Amino acid sequence: MFTDFRTLAETLPCGLIIADKAMNIEFINDFARSKILALPQDYQPSNLNDYTFFTTDMRRFDMDSCMRSMVEAGKRTFHKTLLVKSGKQEKLVYFSVNTFVQKGKKDLFLFNITDISDEMDCITHSPGTFGKGEYMIRNKIIGNDQKMQEIYRMISLAADSEVNVLVQGESGTGKELVADAIHGLSDRKNGPLVKVNCSAFSETLLESELFGHVKGSFTGAYKDKPGKFEMANGGTIFLDEIGEINQSIQVKLLRVIQEKTIERVGDNKSVKVDMRIVAATNKNLRELIKKDIFREDLFYRLNVFNIFMPSLRERHLDIPLLVDYFIEKFNTQTGKKVKGVNRDSLKLMMEYPWPGNIRELQNAIEHAFVLVNGNIIEMGDLPLELQSYSPARREPVTQSGEQNLSASVYYAESFKNKQSGRLKINREQLMGVLEMHDFNQTKTAEFLGISRVALWKKIKKFEI
Ligand SMILES: Nc1ncnc2c1ncn2[C@@H]1O[C@H](COP(=O)(O)OP(=O)(O)OP(=O)(O)O)[C@@H](O)[C@H]1O
Ligand SMILES: [Mg+2]
Repeated sequence: MFTDFRTLAETLPCGLIIADKAMNIEFINDFARSKILALPQDYQPSNLNDYTFFTTDMRRFDMDSCMRSMVEAGKRTFHKTLLVKSGKQEKLVYFSVNTFVQKGKKDLFLFNITDISDEMDCITHSPGTFGKGEYMIRNKIIGNDQKMQEIYRMISLAADSEVNVLVQGESGTGKELVADAIHGLSDRKNGPLVKVNCSAFSETLLESELFGHVKGSFTGAYKDKPGKFEMANGGTIFLDEIGEINQSIQVKLLRVIQEKTIERVGDNKSVKVDMRIVAATNKNLRELIKKDIFREDLFYRLNVFNIFMPSLRERHLDIPLLVDYFIEKFNTQTGKKVKGVNRDSLKLMMEYPWPGNIRELQNAIEHAFVLVNGNIIEMGDLPLELQSYSPARREPVTQSGEQNLSASVYYAESFKNKQSGRLKINREQLMGVLEMHDFNQTKTAEFLGISRVALWKKIKKFEI
């Protein structure tokens, strides 16, 4: 019926790739090249490992080791739903692999890749899988830790409602990203998202920035100017560093929230505004209330829905994931081909307390990109502040004899049940520790203080 395989392959509405064990591409049909990998027409890709696929929980999918374990386990097929960057877009694909042997040739893999992005809506409704909103959030806000899962859930809930949201957390934890996600997922997404950094203005300027002014209302007010509240009409206003605003603006803000109207500085005409407020702060507002610096009534008006961002220290196991994410980001930006960080650097990154949180981690990787020689980031490429960090010196000494334990040991100890001494670790945490040790089971078992057999049982139980 078909003259040959090629004719059939070019007819099918799915990607077909044949590759050898080293993932060298021996055949690729046009659909895979143009629709899945988004390559230019005449471009012939040589190795499948040059393309990054992600699992649906945004981990980089390690094609090489997956295919190797498939062969080692004597399996001939493998199926998984994956994400792939296709040009500027991201596609959800159903990835199915079969091994076969061609006469006189080595083992070959046949990849069948079906684009299922348009079926996202169906997926949204099937329990147990991720929803569209969550998919969008996870694409921008990286993290697998239980605390982040909760944040994704809170963002979806906030987006579905109209209430004011207060995002709290240390500097660099992603508060602004949360505001972006809430707006982007809400019904107001086609309206404006207006951002005001409340700490960047003097008292008078902030007032005119927020509420606008009429000509001549103060020196320098040469013409009428609408404020940010008016500009945010129909959308969302993000009030960053809300803990910095003074008492008189706090009173005015309270009025805006209660009456949904504003008056420009120098004008007594009320203008109706319709916007949702997302406020953020790295200050402890309750402390400011106690000190009479922040109004309690305003706090309750803003804090209708509260999202508290965890520090990076509290979600250590997300570090390998974030490192990969930023490497990918800077590879795209700089055209470099950095593959990863070496073990010592990752270990140091896992131990370092990251006072500047994710922003500081991002800056560290960006710094390393300038210095990196080759495709693996090494200790010497990291900022000096990190290199000179010595956990043993900084770790609080609780009992004599413990002062030489590194943070990683404390970290491994944290998975032990205090009474029974048994290992208590969930799937995400185990994945993080495995990643940290390049999936070397001996080193992972050593790190966790368990036997290789015990580790193997866990890996099997979690179906890693
Ligand atoms: N979970 C995350 N995944 C990916 N990037 C992140 C994440 N969290 C933060 N970032 C990045 O880190 C930087 C700091 O994030 P953001 O500006 O949202 O922090 P912030 O909490 O508002 O900090 P500050 O209080 O200092 O304003 C940004 O470049 C942001 O893109
Ligand atoms: Mg911010």
